[in-house]
Amino acid sequence: MLKEQKEFARRRKQFIRMVGNGNIAVLASSSIMQRNSDVDFPFRQNSDFFYLSGFDEPEAVIVFVPGREQGEYVLFCREFDEKTALWVGASAGLEGAVKDYAVDDAFPIDDIDDILPGLLEDKSRLYFPMGTQLEFDQQLMDWSQKVRGRSRAGVCAPAEFISSDHLLHEMRLIKSVNEIKQMKKAAKISVKAHKIAMQRTRPNVFEYQIDAEMKHCFMSNGAQSEAYPSIVAGGENGCILHYTDNNSKLNDGDLLLIDAGCEWQKYASDITRTFPINGVFSGEQRALYQLVLDAQYAAIKQVKPGNHWNDPHEAAVKVLTKGLVKFGLLKGHVPTLIKNEAYKPYYMHRTGHWLGMDVHDVGDYKINKQWRLLEPGMVLTIEPGLYIQPNATEVDKKWRGIGVRIEDDVLVTKKGHEVLTQGAPKEINDIEELMEAARVA
Ligand code: GLY
Ligand code: MN
Ligand code: MN
Repeated sequence: MLKEQKEFARRRKQFIRMVGNGNIAVLASSSIMQRNSDVDFPFRQNSDFFYLSGFDEPEAVIVFVPGREQGEYVLFCREFDEKTALWVGASAGLEGAVKDYAVDDAFPIDDIDDILPGLLEDKSRLYFPMGTQLEFDQQLMDWSQKVRGRSRAGVCAPAEFISSDHLLHEMRLIKSVNEIKQMKKAAKISVKAHKIAMQRTRPNVFEYQIDAEMKHCFMSNGAQSEAYPSIVAGGENGCILHYTDNNSKLNDGDLLLIDAGCEWQKYASDITRTFPINGVFSGEQRALYQLVLDAQYAAIKQVKPGNHWNDPHEAAVKVLTKGLVKFGLLKGHVPTLIKNEAYKPYYMHRTGHWLGMDVHDVGDYKINKQWRLLEPGMVLTIEPGLYIQPNATEVDKKWRGIGVRIEDDVLVTKKGHEVLTQGAPKEINDIEELMEAARVA
């Protein structure tokens, strides 16, 4: 058994216990997606599948059969094949699955239609990731139908189809010591990349050149990929929330908003920094930036066990709305403006999301219609912003086209929180000093 299998084994044990005797759970790997003739998109394993198995191959299906005498953990996977090994590298094969991945019983994926229906027989509940892999959902229906066809022989098919999401995602929401270690590593590499971006940014450089510097940093530090397509948005592009064209020239006097993070060993980081392209914030940029930063500090302060999910968002909205009134961008009584969501033309997204194996990670935000309480081991982003659209004719011209977001990754600890991405400069002085030092070097 591979060393890192210990943690996977612990997770499987917990999951199998929750699924319970008499029931069954089935999960499929990600599929290879074809890009065009003979070329595939890079393979990324399904996070739920990997979380339970550590098995990083396509064409695989996990079956958990709690209480099964011959073993509770069954894997269908590709057989070892010399030709495949030569062209794309060796797969674990059935032997490797048992030896390295602690599988109790491994079967060829090509035999799944014959074997899986037998495993479904007389099980009450079938847990699977309903609605996320539609072809696989259909296959499960077909296999269950096959079992139903044997009802006159006294065989029962699962009567209840239940999403595995709730059980699994509650587990994934609370990160283990080892997971936090991986997330810190992802954060560290991304922090380094954001610093490099600040040091290399100059007027007349193109967004894609800064994007390339960051990608180089990610990959040369051992990250496997970006956790999501990087946003490198100069000037007005910073007001487009999911801008990924990254093909404009950076103009003297504008801000650059970069939302980029790497994936390290299947764990995401997610950082946004906004800074002046020429190294010095203008008056309006400084005012809006400091306001977003104050909102971010206020939100981060709310990250502690016992506070609820929405406390950081509420804190951010309060600071932002007050500031918008102070600068004349909103007019009126602050509590009324908050109640009427008057800030929404300038702050239209929420203050964060869960972070983990997926950048917008799994886990419920509400329980019984109430915001859930924060608990140690949860990781979330805190990312307030302000976006004054270029066509916002209702505000003074001097504010238009400024987009600012500041985003950090925050771990809930027993005593409060730890900002995993602390190392990326965000104080105005620190940014200006770093950029100035790079200019004169
Ligand atoms: N990078 C995606 C997000 O910040 O949510
Ligand atoms: Mn982000
Ligand atoms: Mn984010």
